[in-house]
Amino acid sequence: MKKFFYTLLLLTVFLFANAQQPPQLVRNKHGVAQLMVDGKPYVMLAGELMNSTSSTLESMAPVWQRMKNLNLNTLLLSVSWEQLEPEEGKYDFSIVDGLIGEARQHDLKLVFLWFGSWKNGSSGYAPHWVLRDTKRFPRMKNKEGENRPYLSILSEELMKADARAYTALMNRIKEIDRNGQTVIMCQIENEVGLLGDTRDRSVQAENQFRQQVPADLIKHLQKNEKRILPEIINEWKANGKKTNGSWLELFGNGCNHLADEMFMSWHYARFINHVATEGKKAYNIPMFVNAWIIFPHEPTPGLYPSGGPNSRMLDVWQAAAPSVDFLAFDNYAEDYIAQCHLYNRNGNPIFVPEAVGLWMGDKESAPAKAFYTLSEFNALGFAPFGIDNAIYTENHPVGDAYRVLNNLLPLIVKEHGTGQMKGFMQQKDQNEVVSFKDYDIHMNYRYPYQGYGLVIRLADDEFLVAGNGADISFHSKIKSLPGVSYGTLQEGYFVDGEWKTTKYLGGDEAMQGIGGIKLPGVYLYEDANPNAVTIVRVKLIPTESGTYGEKNMVD
Ligand code: DGJ
Repeated sequence: MKKFFYTLLLLTVFLFANAQQPPQLVRNKHGVAQLMVDGKPYVMLAGELMNSTSSTLESMAPVWQRMKNLNLNTLLLSVSWEQLEPEEGKYDFSIVDGLIGEARQHDLKLVFLWFGSWKNGSSGYAPHWVLRDTKRFPRMKNKEGENRPYLSILSEELMKADARAYTALMNRIKEIDRNGQTVIMCQIENEVGLLGDTRDRSVQAENQFRQQVPADLIKHLQKNEKRILPEIINEWKANGKKTNGSWLELFGNGCNHLADEMFMSWHYARFINHVATEGKKAYNIPMFVNAWIIFPHEPTPGLYPSGGPNSRMLDVWQAAAPSVDFLAFDNYAEDYIAQCHLYNRNGNPIFVPEAVGLWMGDKESAPAKAFYTLSEFNALGFAPFGIDNAIYTENHPVGDAYRVLNNLLPLIVKEHGTGQMKGFMQQKDQNEVVSFKDYDIHMNYRYPYQGYGLVIRLADDEFLVAGNGADISFHSKIKSLPGVSYGTLQEGYFVDGEWKTTKYLGGDEAMQGIGGIKLPGVYLYEDANPNAVTIVRVKLIPTESGTYGEKNMVD
């Protein structure tokens, strides 16, 4: 009996200790980084607010319920240095406290975006007392020696001031939120990097640029040579693979100003690493940076922020900023998938804090990108930017996509890294094939909107598909059983881990039971619509012959 109570006590202490752990990243047995909140894997079905929305609780008032209606579980929103520390050393936490309180009331988690020394390269969110004191807080300069509107990355004084304010923020979060775990991550600065030039031309920067490349970076390159971006390694080799020398001597500027950009990157990363290290001493939750990505038509640093955490500089950031948990990327690229691949290396967890360029006329792609990113890349989360924009009414399909994803989250986190979960997403008019070892799954896109979804293999011959806008047929790759028949097709959802069938699909709604799965299971294609996001389970019957591919499909 005594032993029983002792075990019970230990178990209680263990569970209590775990519940008290702040949000953190933990790699599962397949090596996939998962965000643990309240001791459980958490996936962010998120949205990022427009820049100024979270500056007052008044402007936030109508937003909370709208976000709930869209089925978000997490909101990304800015906290600015100028509002937090309007006078040096005097902090105003009213907005932070208010945001956390409201988020709790609405059962939403928050990711704070620390708009400190830089936001999109420039320094508009730094407090007045910082901006007006150009002696203490110098600017970066152009070749003519004129100030640019960007605070200097080389200023130790700025680094300390920014870190002090950020640490005050983290202390406050810890004080009021340690048990609530409302704030689950923080982004440090926003899309940093220098615009308009490849490197800072101030006298201090020119001197630093001529100094030796830091030994820590060289060691990192030597130790990880095989996984460093070939572009960096090749330039290093082409310049004699020296272990001593200046940035120019080691990397040259022949490859799109590589030396300039690596120099800038090192210093941005070192600065932000200091802010993260200090912040984590106060409250140790995941901290990340976000990138203005390199658009293929603008590959020159300075056209995009030089030295930011872009895919070319990933290795430099990983070497210089070990306290930064990962590099996120604002993925507005036309080739969305290619950008995800560029960041999916060296163990960098995937998180897309901004996507879907409303200003480019893209108003519809959030559901597809959410499904694809979360399934194909085991992502920590996904967020369309400007989720409080009028475009996102409560009828926007992203709400339906999030409703379905939310239903699937327990399954999704279980499949992280197993290789049994894959995404699909229509790009232009192309159809697509998703491959498993023994099955090819053909996605036929013939709906009047973008098709997308995910596939999870539940058992050898059982699959779950979810999404919208695709006709799906299975093709066996097993030599002895090259045919596939479809067993029962069930549309439904999960309730506390148990499957509930809402409709058995057959006949017209299932290509007569021989062609495959229609997502959604409609009679006429005109009956389909972007809000009809569904989940379907199918048991396949492998046969000796008689595969019905898309050629045999009967509408
Ligand atoms: C990228 C920035 O990171 C955001 O803060 C916002 O300014 C968007 N661009 C605007 O589309």
